[in-house]
Amino acid sequence: MTKSHRREPDVKLRILCLVALLLWVVGAVLVGWVFVKGWTMPGADKRLHVLLAPAERDQVLGEMRLLLKAVHGVVTGLGSQDQQADRKQAEQAARSAGMGMAADVNPALMAKLPLPFKQMGMSVHKDFDGLADAIAQGETPAQIMHRLASITGRCTTCHDLYRLPAGP
Ligand code: HEC
Repeated sequence: MTKSHRREPDVKLRILCLVALLLWVVGAVLVGWVFVKGWTMPGADKRLHVLLAPAERDQVLGEMRLLLKAVHGVVTGLGSQDQQADRKQAEQAARSAGMGMAADVNPALMAKLPLPFKQMGMSVHKDFDGLADAIAQGETPAQIMHRLASITGRCTTCHDLYRLPAGP
């Protein structure tokens, strides 16, 4: 075999490696782009529409209704006369919307949500855990209301920014 014969596959291999590397970089950039931007479209109502599969949309909306139930449980517990029993109820309600709720979200769905949506959602779950701890540690109703208001502020901000349109 001559030298030139041995070099030829070398060059081909290098080109192949370069192409593979390039494809990998393009793929990584695309995945990063989707992770930040999510799967969205501007809506006529000025909100950003997040485009989910019907089952994913049902899952997110189901979680939303649980969040509202948690808020309801906290407010009901705090407003009651029987302080001891109902603090426990308020604590459990807050805990139900903590990080445990976010544990089993599937990665495909997570990828479609824009980054600020994910961040706001996670911070709400984290603060519900903080709220549950605060209730258990005996913070005053005013302190607890202050925490709750910081959470509900994010509910309303996110609702002003995003929509989950039903399929076509
Ligand atoms: C990260 C964004 C985000 C946060 C935070 C958020 N929501 Fe939502 N929520 C949405 C979106 C988007 C919808 C769908 C709105 C639409 O399509 O009109 C929704 C819908 C809902 C619905 C309607 C559910 C249904 O079945 O139609 C309820 C109830 C709700 N949210 C409650 C809450 C409560 C309570 C909180 C705070 C404790 C909260 N959400 C926090 C994004 C959010």
